[in-house]
Amino acid sequence: MSRRTAIVTGSARGIGKAIALRLAQDGYAVCINDIPSSQDVIFATVEEIRSQVADSRVIGVGADVTSSVDVERLVKETVEQLGPLTLMVANAGIAQVKPLLSVTEQDIDQVMSVNFKGLFNCYTHAARQMIAQGDPTEAAGVNVYKILGAASIVAHKPFPKLGIYSASKWAVRGLTQAMSMEMAPHKITVNAYAPGIVGTAMWEHIDGGLGELEGREKGESLRLYSDRFISLGRTSTPEDVAGLVGGFLADRDSDYVTGQTMVVDGGIIFT
Ligand SMILES: NC(=O)c1ccc[n+]([C@@H]2O[C@H](COP(=O)([O-])OP(=O)(O)OC[C@H]3O[C@@H](n4cnc5c(N)ncnc54)[C@H](O)[C@@H]3O)[C@@H](O)[C@H]2O)c1
Repeated sequence: MSRRTAIVTGSARGIGKAIALRLAQDGYAVCINDIPSSQDVIFATVEEIRSQVADSRVIGVGADVTSSVDVERLVKETVEQLGPLTLMVANAGIAQVKPLLSVTEQDIDQVMSVNFKGLFNCYTHAARQMIAQGDPTEAAGVNVYKILGAASIVAHKPFPKLGIYSASKWAVRGLTQAMSMEMAPHKITVNAYAPGIVGTAMWEHIDGGLGELEGREKGESLRLYSDRFISLGRTSTPEDVAGLVGGFLADRDSDYVTGQTMVVDGGIIFT
């Protein structure tokens, strides 16, 4: 019997929340994490998942992923309450819409500290915990431990006016490959998922920024980008991403997959 336990960062809402729900439905014990100031939303999400999935084991822990100390505590509290950690989903991220010639040093620090350093903190603290637990089969009845991170389609092809965000996601792709090589001897796989245009608060922010820069009303940029670029003809839902992450990357069917950044974007074509 496997005893699978996951942490999903930035999961009080959006893609992370959909992933956490999917993992709970698939029998994972799950820790919902978000920034400490979102404690109310974290607990609302915990309650929502508990009410939707009978017998689920779900906890909430506030922690800022940009802080190594916070992430260490997040891992420790999860293991104390739920048991050996078998999956880390480093999902938390922020977007920034700015032409490159307007970007300040502070802008770079802000984006890289969450999207890159935050993900690094999650990857490394999870890996230390997994290595300390020993063989995954003996510790939790699984063949391999898994670490996953949020990249983006812009990790393969940047969006203009999202240059620093795009660069941060290229960094995620690189770190994921490097980490997968160093972790393989410890029976830990490391992969990333790359969503396209997902209808969440993040895209509301991007839509607002692009609208301001390019002279469009609220909601128009999301519609325009979805219509023009997505082959399947609709904006992605968080559940589309949760299908790849929960249904495949977190499942035993992906035990032989490592070092990959898998795209789930409805077939985005840049014209
Ligand atoms: N929405 C999209 O179209 C899209 C596309 C590609 C990739 N992604 C990536 O998917 C991930 C989730 O995106 P989303 O659309 O759900 O965004 P979102 O803004 O709806 O949710 C992100 C969550 O992360 C949390 N967060 C931010 N900084 C944090 C920190 N320092 N510590 C802990 N939590 C923090 C936020 O509070 C928020 O709840 C992000 O990494 C994003 O870059 C999103």
